[in-house]
Amino acid sequence: MILIIDFGSQTTHLIGRRIKEIGVPVEIVTAGEALNAAIKLKPKGIILSGGPASAYGKNALLIDSKIFDLNIPVLGICYGLEVMGQMLGGRVAPGKKKEYGSTKFTLIKENPLFSNWQDKKKTFTVWMSHFDQLVTPPKNSTVVGVTPEVKVAAFADEKRNYYGIMFHPEAHHTQYGRDILYNFVISICQKFTEINKNPVPALVRSIKDQIKNQSAVCALSGGIDSAVAAVLTQKAIGDKLTCIYVDTGLMRQGETEEIKSAFKKNFRLNLKVVHAENDFLRALKGITDPEEKRKIIGNTFIRIFEKEAKKLDSRILVQGTIYPDVIESRGSKHSRKIKTHHNVGGIPEIHGFKIVEPLRQFYKDEVREIAGKLSFPKNLILRHVFPGPGLAVRIIGAVTPEKLDILRRADLIVVEEIKKAGLYEDIWMAFAVFTGVKSTGVTGDERKYGETIAVRVIESKDTMTADWVKLPYEVLERIAERIVTEVFAVVRVVYDITTKPPATMEWE
Ligand code: XMP
Repeated sequence: MILIIDFGSQTTHLIGRRIKEIGVPVEIVTAGEALNAAIKLKPKGIILSGGPASAYGKNALLIDSKIFDLNIPVLGICYGLEVMGQMLGGRVAPGKKKEYGSTKFTLIKENPLFSNWQDKKKTFTVWMSHFDQLVTPPKNSTVVGVTPEVKVAAFADEKRNYYGIMFHPEAHHTQYGRDILYNFVISICQKFTEINKNPVPALVRSIKDQIKNQSAVCALSGGIDSAVAAVLTQKAIGDKLTCIYVDTGLMRQGETEEIKSAFKKNFRLNLKVVHAENDFLRALKGITDPEEKRKIIGNTFIRIFEKEAKKLDSRILVQGTIYPDVIESRGSKHSRKIKTHHNVGGIPEIHGFKIVEPLRQFYKDEVREIAGKLSFPKNLILRHVFPGPGLAVRIIGAVTPEKLDILRRADLIVVEEIKKAGLYEDIWMAFAVFTGVKSTGVTGDERKYGETIAVRVIESKDTMTADWVKLPYEVLERIAERIVTEVFAVVRVVYDITTKPPATMEWE
């Protein structure tokens, strides 16, 4: 078992996941629990996660230094490297330049953490997200890697099996990230046993345990998460489950009809469609703050559910919440809140339900794998993610029916062109954003002061990090041309070329 000490990084759980994929069990504990857990659980290795604090600051989150007397291999990642470096005699200081997203790492000295993989290049792409950096390595260790901005991007103390890396090997975009983690847990920390790869039976059992012989309602959004949660629940409690799909009026073009027919065709779920467009638009009137929008939407949702569930005499609500929703909304003990994903943080404290969230521990691609095990059709599995608050978080400023109409039409063009180009299945999400920025255009020799639409097309594996897709110019050209000619109010189209971090995927 590998013990992960969580210093509050957004990707701590992802480290655990990568290690589970290698076939090794993990335990994640807080910094305060680190020493006791290491003594009690006797892990084969310890990983110190990243985190938002400063290792030398007043609010530094540190661990008991006795952990370094236990003779257990340790890998420090980002803030974990800084903590370890500082506690073992090195020095951390603010960096001259902040590094977010991808950078080039160069291996300057061979060592076991970076060994045994094929076609290895000395310089490769890694993902960073930090302010501070280690400027002096710890005693008895050697600097083994650098980046253009960081002189101690990796260090190794091979004698004691202490390693530190400034970049995130768990991030999908770090080249050789898996190999580095594999080297640590297998080559450096010894061999382990395989873990169970089919979670379906255990999930169904756990749902049965939670719901017993009661009836339940499931919030079906049309996305893969809630659909998988619903089908798992149906396996657990059969007809006692009723799925409710709420048309919030914040959906994409044709979405409600598509969802209705997909679910009728593929699953024999009890499905009730509630039309609540007016409720949502009324509640959102004049609201511009993104967090407030999310809370209002969460609130309106839950009230509708309460009403519907009352009719069905049900007190249990099944939701398709997945791990990134939890971590980005509420955070783990030390991680910071990024935004309130409506199906978690936006739901008011007082409501009449017991909540069942079978997928809370899973990432999107794991959910897609579970969907495969449940025989979901490919088009449902590969459907692009759509956020619970829908187009409300893709309209900057207040939501109105006019803006929704413009956005829907622009969005449809983006998706149509991506599909035509055969790129839909390789992409995480492709969508349009109503930026609320007015700009000057010219049509038919007339000045036209119109709307600006942003196009966001991104790829991601695990939600926590993402890169923008280098679409062929011809596809971008067609998207822009069609939007400005087919959606009259729009005079300008821009392409969003930011990675996550520092941007998030949605604009709000
Ligand atoms: P961000 O914008 O946080 O998005 O980088 C990560 C992924 O989550 C989706 N998302 C949401 N899903 N409720 C949801 O159910 C929400 O409030 C929400 N906000 C973002 C987003 O579409 C992306 O795939």
